[in-house]
Amino acid sequence: MKAMEHRGQEQAAAEPQAANYKLQCVACATSYPAGELRYRCVCGEVLEVAYPQLPALTAAEVDARWASRSFPYQSGVWRYRELVLPVANAHIISKPEGNTNLYSVGSDERSGERRVGEFADIAQLWLKHEGENPTGSFKDRGMTAGVSQAVAIGARAVACASTGNTSASLASYAAKAGLRCFVFIPAGKTAFGKLAQALAYGAVTMQVAGDFDAAMSLVQQVANELGVYLLNSINPFRIEGQKTIAYELMQQLGWQVPDWIVLPAGNLGNTAAVGKACRDMLQLGWIDRLPRIAAIQAAGAAPFYASYQTAFAERHTVSAKTLATAIQIGNPVSYLRARKVIRSHNGVVASVSDEAIMQAKAVVDAAGIGCEPASAASVAGARLLRQQGVIGANERVACILTGHLLKDAEAVINYHLEGDNPGANRPLPVEASMAAVAGTISRYL
Ligand code: F0G
Repeated sequence: MKAMEHRGQEQAAAEPQAANYKLQCVACATSYPAGELRYRCVCGEVLEVAYPQLPALTAAEVDARWASRSFPYQSGVWRYRELVLPVANAHIISKPEGNTNLYSVGSDERSGERRVGEFADIAQLWLKHEGENPTGSFKDRGMTAGVSQAVAIGARAVACASTGNTSASLASYAAKAGLRCFVFIPAGKTAFGKLAQALAYGAVTMQVAGDFDAAMSLVQQVANELGVYLLNSINPFRIEGQKTIAYELMQQLGWQVPDWIVLPAGNLGNTAAVGKACRDMLQLGWIDRLPRIAAIQAAGAAPFYASYQTAFAERHTVSAKTLATAIQIGNPVSYLRARKVIRSHNGVVASVSDEAIMQAKAVVDAAGIGCEPASAASVAGARLLRQQGVIGANERVACILTGHLLKDAEAVINYHLEGDNPGANRPLPVEASMAAVAGTISRYL
């Protein structure tokens, strides 16, 4: 691996004293010093940040920080900074992110949002809307950690492969940090909102003639051979930032653990992060038990589900195809990290059709909340698991919505304008006259 260029000794000296974590291989447990620049173990597998002992931080302390308006605690990531990244304030690149809404949408609710709970047949249901982050997806939580680490080690340039959201997020954070940014996206397979962001935020955007999995393997080679800092979720610091979705969810629930956390699953970084966060919280005594975790894949991009069906006897890869382009991934990088989570959280993996995803999305959208297609896989999955009796009638369920509705406006327009989809809401052409408008309105009142 080529040496990184460093910005000078002063910055290195400004870093907090040596962190007490190591980078540990998920497969063979070989560990490496915290400061070593590497993304994979010598055995080829991915690494995790591992603490011999977690930094002391209490739930009361993070509750006290919750009201803070000052840097960096006003961020829903850096509020938990001891568990995210031991980095000096000067290196933190924060917008700030997090502090996303938790919508209570169970069928027990009185508001119009209860239609989501009715759809899924779940009385106590929450949607944690990670699409409310600065660039419109959950990726910002991992990216603030990853880009801060890039700054701390004096990286000159950063890169990622992406189905869209990671590239949008990295492009934005790199611009803030003043770092050159290279993104690799599969040509013709990225939703326009995301492509628009990468271009607008100034990333050098390479449209790879191939799928996400091809772009992913290419960018790893780029990082290794050209000395550009890799900020896909293979980078363990991204995962550390993403853990805060679960910290914040529990904090919003007053540390009352839901029975289930349900989330869409593609490259499996988020499944890994949410599970790791729950283990942290249990170890620190913030919560008294682990929630079960359900990772939901699109049927056309379900290699993890295929492995799950054989009790993970085999690692599957597929050629992925789904309308939920964010999770159109056939060879997930965090397979082993996520497998560990499913095993240790009494978890399940499910697969839902594109039709079910789009139907769930239409319900979330019509509740006034809205999300991009991949996000709705969580709600479609919760509904399926409820139908199968895996989720019980009285269980409390939190679904993670990972991206904003406007990320993929094309999917919305197609759903409402083409074919005969449930809940389709076609625009009505009207003449510019009061009589015509009154006639139309009278049909709805
Ligand atoms: N939902 C959305 C909106 C996503 O963008 C992604 C992943 C996921 C879910 C799945 O999360 O990969 O951690 O299992 N998007 C990545 C990207 C791959 O490049 O933006 P995961």
